[in-house]
Amino acid sequence: MERLSTGISSLDSLLAGGIPEGFFVALVGMPGTGKTIACLHFINAGLLKGEKAVYVTTEESRESIVRQASQFNMNFDKALRENRLIIIDALMRATSDEWTLNLVTVEEMLDKVIQAKKLLGSQARRLVIDSMSAFWLRAPVKAREESYLVKRVLAKWDYTVYATSQYAITTGGAFGWGLEHIADGIIHFKRRIINGTLTRYLIVEKMRQTPHDLRAWEISIVDGQGLTLTRPLTRRVEDEALPDSVAKKIKRVISEEEH
Ligand SMILES: Nc1ncnc2c1ncn2[C@@H]1O[C@H](COP(=O)(O)OP(=O)(O)OP(=O)(O)O)[C@@H](O)[C@H]1O
Ligand SMILES: [Mg+2]
Repeated sequence: MERLSTGISSLDSLLAGGIPEGFFVALVGMPGTGKTIACLHFINAGLLKGEKAVYVTTEESRESIVRQASQFNMNFDKALRENRLIIIDALMRATSDEWTLNLVTVEEMLDKVIQAKKLLGSQARRLVIDSMSAFWLRAPVKAREESYLVKRVLAKWDYTVYATSQYAITTGGAFGWGLEHIADGIIHFKRRIINGTLTRYLIVEKMRQTPHDLRAWEISIVDGQGLTLTRPLTRRVEDEALPDSVAKKIKRVISEEEH
């Protein structure tokens, strides 16, 4: 079985080498946890191998994606100019073109993605849909049925797919409810404050046909370099320990009660 590199070597090693070709992988999680940056790495890994690629962006403009990529030394601008990358975007601009989504429906997105594949040919192996949540803003109940439609239609077009979806901050429930069940793989991006510092981490929750790692891994995002996994998130004593003064007070109260 051929596996496609995620473009993040530390993530590839959690996945026995990468994502099995043709898989539909859901990247889910809270805002600012690194989903989009992981998508950029996945696309860039293909571009570096001479492949072509398609990126659907529904919440950031094409320009924003290109600029974010350039901060990690990924030259999406060049790939666009060389017609090796197509970025389909849903942001209304004064000058919309053939790669603009006007209705922001799943059907329209699939049409464009197929059109892009016909234009780029078999060298276009990687597709990112970032994010799927935008299609269901007004009708979350459609998410399950339409996730299935997306997977079924794309299966015919020889893409290995990354599809992102947000989690509702308040409930922790997946906004794109349904995506995870149809996905061949789920990578869950999370965040927590540890010692007063925002700590981002990810867990591979599912990857069919893969003996994958089961631990949570801390994420580091570095300007000029991008996203890497640094170490497994373990339960460290300092995360749980009470401040010294409190511990001493408890000991004193206990010993006073004992006497
Ligand atoms: N050049 C940079 N150098 C270091 N860190 C950066 C850089 N650019 C972005 N980041 C970090 O990455 C975060 C954004 O990550 P990303 O866009 O991948 O999140 P996301 O999971 O896609 O969020 P959302 O669901 O809101 O789209 C920023 O909040 C910032 O902490
Ligand atoms: Mg994002």
